[in-house]
Amino acid sequence: MKEDILQMLKSRKDFVSGQELCEYFQVSRTAVWKVIGQLKSEGYEIEAINRKGYRLIASPDILTEAEILSGMTTEVMGRHVYYYDCLGSTNDQARMLAEQGAPDGSLVVAETQNTGKGRMGRVFFSPEGSGIWMSLILKPDIPPMDASMITLLGAMAVQEMMESFGLESGIKWPNDLVIDHRKTTGILTEMSAGPDVVNYIVIGIGINVNMKEFPEELRETAISMAMASGQTYHRAEIIRRVMQYFETNYRQFLKDGNLAFLKKKYDASLIHLNKEISIHEIRRVWRGVSRGINDIGELIVSVDGEETTVRSGEVSIR
Ligand code: BTN
Repeated sequence: MKEDILQMLKSRKDFVSGQELCEYFQVSRTAVWKVIGQLKSEGYEIEAINRKGYRLIASPDILTEAEILSGMTTEVMGRHVYYYDCLGSTNDQARMLAEQGAPDGSLVVAETQNTGKGRMGRVFFSPEGSGIWMSLILKPDIPPMDASMITLLGAMAVQEMMESFGLESGIKWPNDLVIDHRKTTGILTEMSAGPDVVNYIVIGIGINVNMKEFPEELRETAISMAMASGQTYHRAEIIRRVMQYFETNYRQFLKDGNLAFLKKKYDASLIHLNKEISIHEIRRVWRGVSRGINDIGELIVSVDGEETTVRSGEVSIR
């Protein structure tokens, strides 16, 4: 009920009478009063005037279930929110919840992570109060070998979210989001699958949102949305937009079974399109010119005039 009352206060933008809230949600005045008290203690600024009711003045930048869900426009993605103040890794928690039956589209969010996981076994910097550390649980009916395409959908959703705020970011294949060659978002996709079925996929997304600076060791390579634009952002709104963009593209992907519909837009965002790159695979590093993705999200690279494709690996620009 908390998120419903919050949603009503947000959408009305004017006073909502206590009477109306009681009648609409079929609850007592005491119950409404308790919810308003809870919201105020979480940092919501709510004006209460006798005979007029309640008016929401400002929402805090918090990532509670009620805050994320009030204003969520999706049908499935992010419709079940599991919020934690602190976790080791939202990906690990999401895997556990997925095993325990959390439904498709469930979203795990933490205010901070102690041991955020990056790609290649790296630790991902996930401080409190300034970023988004979240993992989306998906249970698609697709062959396991198609799962890598979903990671590109994650990157595209974050890129579209930034674009919606007027912030231009680029993608480094497969799923790093960069601004001025510095990373603003990392994505780690993990999967549990049998030989031909996907049990679940977890897409872990870490977005640097409102940091004003980074620790010394990341200063050259990391950037936040706030550092790039000079603005600060309301993180719950960012999550809602990412969920909406992701859902739209994911639906199309499930319908088509490939990424042909997204290729043009994805390629236009690639920071290394038609540039010389190095491809770092587990046992070797090789070079070529990046030509964009094919319909299944592999990177096309031309080497001495011959085209070849890369399914997984890290790219650096030479
Ligand atoms: C990378 O670029 O190396 C991938 C970073 C992925 C970080 C996110 S933060 C939320 C989720 N939980 C984790 O432990 N990792 C991912």
